[in-house]
Amino acid sequence: MRHLKIFATDVIKGSLFEDLVKEGHQLTVWDRTQNGEISESDIINNAKECDVIISMLSNKLGARTLAQLPNIKLISQYAVGFNNIDINFCQENGISVTNTPNVLTNATAELAMALMLCSARNIEAARKNVIDKKWQTWEPSGFIGKSLFNLKHGIIGAGRIGTQFAKMCKGAFNQEIIYTGPNKKSEIEETCDAKYVNLQTLLQESDIISIHCPYSEATHQLINQSAFKRMKKDILLINTARGEIIDEEAMYHFFKINNHAMAGLDVVCNEPLDDNSPLRELDNIFILPHIGSANDVARSDMAQLIFDNIQCFANGKDLKTSV
Ligand code: GLV
Ligand code: GLV
Repeated sequence: MRHLKIFATDVIKGSLFEDLVKEGHQLTVWDRTQNGEISESDIINNAKECDVIISMLSNKLGARTLAQLPNIKLISQYAVGFNNIDINFCQENGISVTNTPNVLTNATAELAMALMLCSARNIEAARKNVIDKKWQTWEPSGFIGKSLFNLKHGIIGAGRIGTQFAKMCKGAFNQEIIYTGPNKKSEIEETCDAKYVNLQTLLQESDIISIHCPYSEATHQLINQSAFKRMKKDILLINTARGEIIDEEAMYHFFKINNHAMAGLDVVCNEPLDDNSPLRELDNIFILPHIGSANDVARSDMAQLIFDNIQCFANGKDLKTSV
């Protein structure tokens, strides 16, 4: 077994780092609470001599950065999405990349459910009412939300997460599932009686639209101005995938005009959300700070998968979840 030099761009709780050191690897960890956000040059300076980077989705590992890290042989990303990494550069330069699929599917579907419920039932405004001591009486017409039962739900990207969320929505709320994506998928059809439609049909027919596709050139601003034009004026839009799949300016205008429409977003184009982002102005856009995989089980299984991949690499075995 090779002993590797590893650089982790942030602290991961649990025993991962200890376990790697026990295996004889040499580990450097960026301590964000002490040193602040990591920059491109911090990554280069710290990872220059290393074989492995444990990366976060917030680290931009483009060709320019990677070209200055000639020793790196493995990037082990603590996320399922890896659009922050230049995969072509990695392929051309013999760098292996692993991610953490499967283990965060339930957690992310769970969060999509939370966004759907919070948006549909005005949870944020209702809670604020209590916190601000504005709760006066039982209001016959206060905080009236939308029933989630029997609605038509359009899933964009019926991968693991989209399919899991569809199953939950079918089971909990008897929603009628339609879906779109590059290919028909048998699991969502078999388990949810889902119908495959094109994007235009999905946009027009859905009461709820949830986005679960990976971000790529093909899905860049897939939900643009003309997509918003096709949607119902009281759409419930959920995004737990990547912010860049939605044209944010078009989204802002749509939700500003249509105040019966609601959005629940776990992701935005620029994270963290800019202090001056106009999205903050709108009560019908509910935003969370990218916490899809943030539950105890998922984060610990993600760390285990990082450990397993690094051990496979050190032992010259096939990687468990190579992208
Ligand atoms: C989170 O967005 C992930 O890609 O894991
Ligand atoms: C990602 O994990 C997906 O397949 O949905």
